[in-house]
Amino acid sequence: MKAAIIYTSVTGNTSTLADIIHERMEKRGIDTDLIPIDEFHANQLKEYDLIAVGTYSWDNGDLPLEMEDLYEAFEIEDVKHVTTGVFGTGDSFYPYFCGAVDLFRDMLYVHTNLAVTLKVELMPQDDDLDRCDKFCDRLTRELIPA
Ligand SMILES: Cc1cc2nc3c(=O)[nH]c(=O)nc-3n(C[C@H](O)[C@H](O)[C@H](O)COP(=O)(O)O)c2cc1C
Repeated sequence: MKAAIIYTSVTGNTSTLADIIHERMEKRGIDTDLIPIDEFHANQLKEYDLIAVGTYSWDNGDLPLEMEDLYEAFEIEDVKHVTTGVFGTGDSFYPYFCGAVDLFRDMLYVHTNLAVTLKVELMPQDDDLDRCDKFCDRLTRELIPA
């Protein structure tokens, strides 16, 4: 079983969330690659059984530019067997809170075995830790047996 967290972050909120989720996946005995988007190649997608995507939101609840190739790769590659989750940080000051999470969610629902989503306000706080545990529980529970 191969698992990965693929994420982007500019000011550190989403990378902190990715680190928390990574630690919790490892605690569950799931060896998980933690990959910043600039180190990820789209042709690696099919290798994984489980992928968590982490993104902040930009513009009017839009995808960050650097996540567009990943988004398109999920649409093009044969990834029906991949169990996915999407998490993100955003700022509820903006009208479309964590809009990029919703965009990934809708696409992953169509092209993969989408299990779970998670939205966090800016930097993760103590009361987000339980939500991270639930995210990992749902993600692993929905794995498709090989
Ligand atoms: C110009 C700009 C536009 C943003 N637009 C949105 C938005 O539409 N929705 C949202 O939830 N957050 C928005 N944010 C907030 C960021 O998504 C939020 O600060 C996020 O936690 C940054 O993640 P990072 O620290 O991983 O880079 C915006 C931030 C900036 C600077």
